[in-house]
Amino acid sequence: MASRQVGLCLLCHSGPFPEERFQGNLAPDLSVSVAHSTPAQLRARLVDSNRFNPASIMPAYYRTSGLNRVASKFADQTILSGQEIEDVVAFLVSLQAKPPQ
Ligand code: HEC
Repeated sequence: MASRQVGLCLLCHSGPFPEERFQGNLAPDLSVSVAHSTPAQLRARLVDSNRFNPASIMPAYYRTSGLNRVASKFADQTILSGQEIEDVVAFLVSLQAKPPQ
């Protein structure tokens, strides 16, 4: 979630992570998002954000088709693995237990 090399969520989103500097303001705060989403909705959003908003700037983290200008060495690869998608969903769900900061 907080990785600046892999997921890059905080490039666009902010969240309840006081230790992280320079959080994004292009997308909803994740503590708000998790409060009104089920795990299945969070997973679907991560897998393919374009299903919710065709013009979304959020990457589809688990889709390999219908992408533009993919370098050949990345062809047929997802950004995150299935396990990483599940880890992010579990982490987001865990935020629900905490009061907003
Ligand atoms: C390039 C910017 C960008 C990145 C990177 C990004 N997002 Fe998003 N995300 C958005 C935008 C913008 C939206 C608002 C809906 C839309 O436009 O698609 C969104 C929507 C969401 C939503 C639904 C929000 C709601 O309140 O309904 C969730 C959950 C989410 N993102 C999680 C993540 C996670 C987790 C990551 C990292 C693995 C991530 N996003 C990475 C831009 C981004």
